[in-house]
Amino acid sequence: MFISFSTASCKRTAILFLLFSSLIACGQSAEESTEAKLPISINEVMASLINHSADPIWIAAWRNPQNEKDWRELEHLSRQLQVGGALLSIPGTGPVDERWTDNENWRGYAQQLSAAAGRAVNAARSKDIVLIQRAGDDIVEICESCHKEFKPALPTMNIYGELSPTAIDLQ
Ligand code: HEC
Repeated sequence: MFISFSTASCKRTAILFLLFSSLIACGQSAEESTEAKLPISINEVMASLINHSADPIWIAAWRNPQNEKDWRELEHLSRQLQVGGALLSIPGTGPVDERWTDNENWRGYAQQLSAAAGRAVNAARSKDIVLIQRAGDDIVEICESCHKEFKPALPTMNIYGELSPTAIDLQ
């Protein structure tokens, strides 16, 4: 009798222990998921996503998209810039990424870039070249303002060796 009681209580303790440790595990994973981190550096996001998707918006303003396919392409690239802008608020693997993303002004520029690219998406959808130009002007101003405030004279990582027209203007 005594033995079976103690076995039951032992089982209960074991179950409680398992429950408790799984609660701890849940707590940990919830904490980890709030600390999102990009698998690449912000510099790489800049060169491969931001710069890549912004250039065609400016080009479109000089040379109007010619057909349905051109407009669709412009819409997709503007979407990529919209997401790219939002990604700039998440640190990646670069040496000073966290210092940037912790800064309120930085996050403000990232948010403005994303919003301006969202306007380019709408302009491409309605095939409105004037609105594309307007969004393009807003975008270039945001790139330049953030570069003036945050971009080091020498890139922190010399990755692609390519400079956008904007970056060249700032040198
Ligand atoms: C939130 C701030 C911010 C915004 C907005 C921003 N940049 Fe950058 N950009 C940087 C910083 C900082 C670097 C330097 C990264 C490094 O050296 O690690 C950089 C680097 C670059 C580079 C890499 C080459 C170089 O000169 O070092 C290019 C190209 C670039 N940006 C283009 C753009 C374009 C185009 C836009 C707008 C569509 C833009 N950036 C918007 C902060 C910004």
